[in-house]
Amino acid sequence: MNLILMGLPGAGKGTQAVKINEKYNIPHISTGDMFRLAIKEGTELGNKAKSYMDQGELVPDEVTIGIVKERLGKDDCKNGFLLDGFPRTIAQAEALQSILSEMNETIDYVLHVDVPKEKLLERLTGRRICPTCGATYHVIYNPPKEEGKCDKDGSELVQREDDQEETVKNRLDVNLKQAQPLLDYYKEKGYLVKVDGDQEIDRVFQDIQAKIEK
Ligand code: AP5
Ligand code: ZN
Repeated sequence: MNLILMGLPGAGKGTQAVKINEKYNIPHISTGDMFRLAIKEGTELGNKAKSYMDQGELVPDEVTIGIVKERLGKDDCKNGFLLDGFPRTIAQAEALQSILSEMNETIDYVLHVDVPKEKLLERLTGRRICPTCGATYHVIYNPPKEEGKCDKDGSELVQREDDQEETVKNRLDVNLKQAQPLLDYYKEKGYLVKVDGDQEIDRVFQDIQAKIEK
């Protein structure tokens, strides 16, 4: 199954991607995670991406398309994949179409996790992540068992650098501009499935399963 998760920052793409990956065993390909790893490792890609991410701007298309193309070419994508946070522009969507046609693959569903934009600021500023395993929590909606510590490995949770209020506002503006044309693009192609993301995490996942197993 070839899936794309779309939604504004904080809609819950990463949270649902972990569940989809566990249940359907398809690789979770998050461009945001790939950029964060590159920054942590101090690679050339990380250097290119950092200044854009720090300001909540999009990383240029050619950089982003290049890393996705390389990733989709790996063997583990032969039996399906889950793209999270890509494509985010029409140019990226068109590039994806040509990458997939070279691979003789098509998209099965574009899952649009829809959350009213007024709720996103709170979701993002309340997010905490584990620097060791990458697990995502929320101070109110998905708190760890012990305050401030990862359930899996006990690491001290941290805030993502781009989750400061000022950066969040710009990220939301930037992504709002890009979102509608992309939704229209996939609607026209018949791939778009809307999921109500403004429910409890497990309910959102139940809805996703019902839609993709139909
Ligand atoms: P990326 O890492 O993709 O960030 P994003 O799109 O801004 O999305 P987030 O990861 O912030 O949110 P999410 O939807 O995954 O929400 P989550 O599940 O964590 O990208 C970061 C940056 O990289 C971009 O700004 C850009 O610079 C660059 N980049 C990445 N891809 C790019 C591309 N294609 N082109 C160009 N540049 C690119 O949930 C959020 C919080 O809410 C968590 O605390 C969670 O616990 C909580 N939560 C989740 N679900 C629920 C629920 N149902 N109810 C209540 N709380 C919930
Ligand atoms: Zn952890």
